[in-house]
Formats: sequence, C-alpha cells, structure tokens
Amino acid sequence: MSFSKRYTAISIVAAAALVLYLAQWAGYNSLAPQRYLAPAPPYTAAIIYLVSVLPGPRSPDELLNSLPLMQANIPWRHQWPVLLLHAGAYDTPESQRDFLTRLRESAESQNLTLDATAKLLDRIEFVPTHHELPDGIPADGVADHPVWDGEWPAYHHMCAFFSYKIFEHPRIKDLTYYLRLDDDSTVRAPACLDPFEYVHAHNLSYAYRRQSPDMGWVTDGMWPFVSNYAKRHPAVESRLRSNSWEWPAQRHWPNHFGEGQNFPSYETNFDLVKVPRFRTPEMTAFLEELASEPRRFYWHRWGDAPVRLAEVFMFLDVEKEVHQMCEVPYAHKGNPFDDCECVPLLD
Ligand SMILES: *[C@@H]1O[C@H](CO)[C@@H](O)[C@H](O)[C@H]1NC(C)=O
Ligand SMILES: *[C@@H]1O[C@H](CO)[C@@H](O)[C@H](O)[C@H]1NC(C)=O
Repeated sequence: MSFSKRYTAISIVAAAALVLYLAQWAGYNSLAPQRYLAPAPPYTAAIIYLVSVLPGPRSPDELLNSLPLMQANIPWRHQWPVLLLHAGAYDTPESQRDFLTRLRESAESQNLTLDATAKLLDRIEFVPTHHELPDGIPADGVADHPVWDGEWPAYHHMCAFFSYKIFEHPRIKDLTYYLRLDDDSTVRAPACLDPFEYVHAHNLSYAYRRQSPDMGWVTDGMWPFVSNYAKRHPAVESRLRSNSWEWPAQRHWPNHFGEGQNFPSYETNFDLVKVPRFRTPEMTAFLEELASEPRRFYWHRWGDAPVRLAEVFMFLDVEKEVHQMCEVPYAHKGNPFDDCECVPLLD
C-alpha cells in the first residue's frame, strides 16, 4: 500500500470513528433538554378538598388557612392541581375571583414567597360536584330519625361520596393518585418529602396519617356486612386473614354479631389513594354491593373512615401496599398528630 493510500485508509477509519462518536454523543445529548424541560411524570395526581356538599354559603376561612400551609410545607415535585369540589359555591367567575383574592391575601399573611403564592393560585381548580339522595331515601328522611341527624344529609352525602362515589367521579377516576385533605387539615411544619413521590417510589397503594376506631353506634351492621361478604368471596376471606384481620367474638353465631362493637378506621381527613387499586373488578363489585343499601350511609350514618379501612384490608396487601405517612407534620382541627423521622427521598 502506498503512503497516500494508507493515509486515505487511516483517514476513513478516523472519520468513521468520529462519526460514530458524534452520533453517540448526539444520541446521548438528545436527552439533555430534559434537564430544562421536565420529563412527563410517570403518574398523575391531584389534591382534593370537598369544600361544599349542598348549595348555599359556607365559610371558606379554614380552607384559606389550610391551602397555603399545604403549599408551603410540602416540597412538591410537581404542582398537581388542587381540586375544590363544590356544590355551586364557586359557579360564577366573580365568586372564583373573590376566593382567589382572599387566598392570595391569606398566603401573604402566612409569609409564602411570591413564587409559592403564584404556584398555589395556579393549582386551584373549581370542580362542581353535586350530591343527590339515592333512590329510597326521601328528601324528608331526617323525619325518619336517622341514627345521627346532625347536618343531615350533607354529612351523609360526604360519607357516601368518599366511600365509593369518588372512584367514579369524572375528574378523579383516571388519576393515578389523589390526596384528600379537609379544610380543617393543616400541614403544620415543613415535610421533607412529597407524598405522591413517596408512594410512587415505594409502589404503595394507600397512605393514611392516623388510625382510630369508629364507634359502634355509627357502624351498626358493618361487622356482619364485611363478614358475610368475606364468606361469599374466598379471596376476600383469605386476604383478611393474611392481613391479620381481627373479628369480634362469635362471628359464626346467627345473631347480633359485632353489635355495638367499634370498627377500626383510618382518619380519612388525610387519605392518599392509588385510584386504580380502588377500581379493580373485585373492588368495584364490593363498592356496588356497599351502595346497594343506601340506608347504610343515610340512616345508619356509616362513615367513610371505617369503610376505607375495610376496603383496604379486604382487597390490598396491607404490609406491602399501605403506609402510615407520619413523616408529614400534620394536625386536624388544631390537634397535632404524632410525627416520625422524615427521610428525604433520593432522586
Ligand atoms: C410572618 O412574618 C412576620 C415578620 O417576620 C412575623 O411577625 C409573622 O409572625 C409571620 N407570620 C407567620 C404566620 O409565620
Ligand atoms: C407494585 O404493587 C402492585 C400492587 O399494587 C403489584 O402488583 C406489583 O407487582 C408491584 N410492583 C413491584 C415492582 O413490586
């Protein structure tokens, strides 16, 4: 080979190597814009407040206090929408503007930065949500002396909504996660983690803040209902067993099982749910049966707190899928819950 031929061959090899190198670099570099333009998150989420259940005025004072704390004290990785589910309170542009003006003032008085205030206002989404009495429950049902007639039927609507209707709500049913907070919920100090990132990173399906029993007189019939369902569905029976579910005494006696006995509950004023896990065919069949006797909610006043716990223990793997999110400093109605150490997530 002549010198010039050899030189040409070397040049070709060098050029090819350079092209390969550039191609690789370009390929690698095509990911670079992600550093500037955030990649689409691998899930969708929303924070949910049920701010009014029946038409008519309702004071937003507590909500105006809760929202800025939620914004300021959680290091949100993504600014997911904050859905304010209301029954007509914010139907007009003026009412929405008024609310947002007051929210800005509240955020300022809580010393949020301008940036945090702008982000909070940007996240708010007003979602009209109406609640109707189910068939078989008359409008004057309160004359029937329900077990509890305070706030009838608004409170009962709320319990039915969070127990099962929420999983069919058009704005919610296709989300991966929602975090429900109530207007008297406060994230009272900075948390080191984003609840959605945490459950996603750990492949969890449910997170709660505190568990406590609901009283027997507002859970009348719940023990036999769950027991009978489990007897007819062996998968539920074995799931309950593997979750170390405890029944009151005399489960297999004919009458009065569980009467007057408290029912364990998650305090659902902090309720973080992986929605698809509550929309499986098995769960949906259970929710339909739950809804099939509306007196459970509208007369006996079953609450969504014990119902949520029953759903979780009947259909999820509690050890693998459920987390007590004590990392988030939290108070309900001004009562601080016990916290635990907060370990930041690695990126
Ligand atoms: C906001 O900042 C002012 C001035 O530093 C302080 O007096 C006030 O207590 C702060 N308010 C809150 C809610 O932290
Ligand atoms: C994540 O959890 C689901 C249950 O929600 C389970 O079916 C799945 O196998 C888990 N994935 C991993 C990677 O552990």
